[in-house]
Amino acid sequence: MIIDFRSDTVTKPGPGMLEAMMKAQVGDDVFGEDPAINELEHLAAVMFGMEDGLFCPSGTMTNQIAIKCHTQPGDEVICDESAHVYQYEGGGIAFNSGASVKLLAGDRGRITAEQVRAAINPDDAHRAKTSLVCLENTSNRGGGSCYDFEEIRKIKSVCDEHHLAFHLDGARVWNAIVAKSETTLQYGEVFDSISICLSKSLGCPVGSLLLGRKDLIKKGRRVRKVFGGGMRQAGFLAAAGIYALKNNIDRLATDHEHAKKIAATIAEKEFVKMVLPVETNIIIFELKENNAAGIVSRLKEKDILGYAIAPNRVRLVVHLDITEDMIEQTITTFKSL
Ligand SMILES: Cc1ncc(COP(=O)(O)O)c(C=O)c1O
Repeated sequence: MIIDFRSDTVTKPGPGMLEAMMKAQVGDDVFGEDPAINELEHLAAVMFGMEDGLFCPSGTMTNQIAIKCHTQPGDEVICDESAHVYQYEGGGIAFNSGASVKLLAGDRGRITAEQVRAAINPDDAHRAKTSLVCLENTSNRGGGSCYDFEEIRKIKSVCDEHHLAFHLDGARVWNAIVAKSETTLQYGEVFDSISICLSKSLGCPVGSLLLGRKDLIKKGRRVRKVFGGGMRQAGFLAAAGIYALKNNIDRLATDHEHAKKIAATIAEKEFVKMVLPVETNIIIFELKENNAAGIVSRLKEKDILGYAIAPNRVRLVVHLDITEDMIEQTITTFKSL
């Protein structure tokens, strides 16, 4: 039995999801004729109180489309220094949008309204025009950390004062919503655009959605075509998304409990310097020595897969395909290390 904690992207569709996919009614989505995609876009938009949605192959694409729609070449985007949009999207902000980035040193991936206010460039021809603020919730590099929603509201006020667009990379917003007992509608009220991923904690094989006002999504649809993301009978994938939205959200609380259980065992190990607070499904632990690769290979020998995210840091991500037995086996293995 391989226990794969490398990411929550590794899940495979189970029988219920596969059945939903097999039964999908499909058509050519570039003509707007795929019933399953239309239903998914509508369902997700309504959930978040947004006007419209756009189904895309990846979270990278939904983030990059949003950034392209909210900026002009030469503009500046504000985000945390560990943000996926900056660190892990191939320099896409520069490549696709010709924009520059102002990075802020947040607390485990979370920036504050005061930091944002101080980072906005003055209206001066010498300076790049600040036009967009991007948040990530939960924060991947922050170890699944969640924003305090009041801080998000404060950042929104700063954006309004300065006429800045406000985008959420909500690849794992589901985990934040469940962990903090929030609502999807809260998010729709404050953000101009939200990227949500179906292929992470919700267990779909593929798919992300960009949500926003009708005019933004219309523009985004054009950008998606330019990026080569216009799919045809992709309703088979959308059907998995509909199934996930209806069945796989509440169960995330179990992943969070599992993550906390494993983290408690790891925290007791002599070779561990500290474990980042576990708020959702991600565990990041720091080692006393720079031997993350060594720990990952020792775990692999025992059929447990993790990820060395830095010379001294290991990440484990709990997800839908991790069973109670796997959690117990992982705890036993850590105890024996
Ligand atoms: C926070 C965050 N945003 C965006 C993405 C991009 O998603 P995708 O891999 O579907 O492009 C990821 C992927 O892991 C992520 O962790």
